Amino acid sequence: MRRLLIAGNWKMHKGVAETTSFLESLLAEDLPPAVDVVCCPPFASLPAAAMMLAGAEVGLGAQNVHWEASGAFTGEVAAPMLAELGVGWVIVGHSERRTLFGETDATAVARARAAQAAGLEVIYCVGETLAERDQGATFAVLERQTSGLAELDPRRLALAYEPVWAIGTGRNASPEQAEEAHAFLRVRLAGAFGGGAAEGLRILYGGSLKPANARQLLALPDVDGGLIGGASLDLRSFSDIIRAAAARAAGVDS
Ligand code: PGA
Repeated sequence: MRRLLIAGNWKMHKGVAETTSFLESLLAEDLPPAVDVVCCPPFASLPAAAMMLAGAEVGLGAQNVHWEASGAFTGEVAAPMLAELGVGWVIVGHSERRTLFGETDATAVARARAAQAAGLEVIYCVGETLAERDQGATFAVLERQTSGLAELDPRRLALAYEPVWAIGTGRNASPEQAEEAHAFLRVRLAGAFGGGAAEGLRILYGGSLKPANARQLLALPDVDGGLIGGASLDLRSFSDIIRAAAARAAGVDS
């Protein structure tokens, strides 16, 4: 059984003071051991978060990483720098990076490779826009976005299916839409790494995941956790989602 992973993508929210008080409260929660929990604060808050999470059960992730280990890349952050800080995870290829900052499939794969080479676990994001879904192009888009997966190390990889139309809109994918996309991605993983490896890899759902829909979405057979934006910023809603994941894990295990 795949362990569920609940990752909070804080985007450009929470400076050092807010990060510190949020993580203090999160660590004081009685978090269920059956679920992997990761928080991804902005770069500026990572050193403070790393100090607080050293030795803790909650993992620490960054939201982006450069593909070179060092060099003249003003404004960028390299994977070995993140690893040195104690960061264990990184989100790569998020749709906001793709649409607002020119991320392509090729650069996303390059970033993911660099991250893995530095020992980081990668959460690799894919997902179609509303126009692409309306044109019936969802699977073609997912196919294109996953075409470089075979270059990655499956031992340090999770996928996140995030339909762009569901991100920050309050409109989540239906269980049928999510399961269909996740099952398709599982087949793509099998093509890249073989069926056995694909069965062990986690595919997270992202896009308006919140306490009200967490149980339903996390119950789907090919949904192995969530990448959560807005609802990860609030301690109550984030821990409610973690508990929904734990309930699923307990249900499946029993
Ligand atoms: P959302 O964001 O939960 O606010 O929709 C998800 C994401 O962008 O990862």
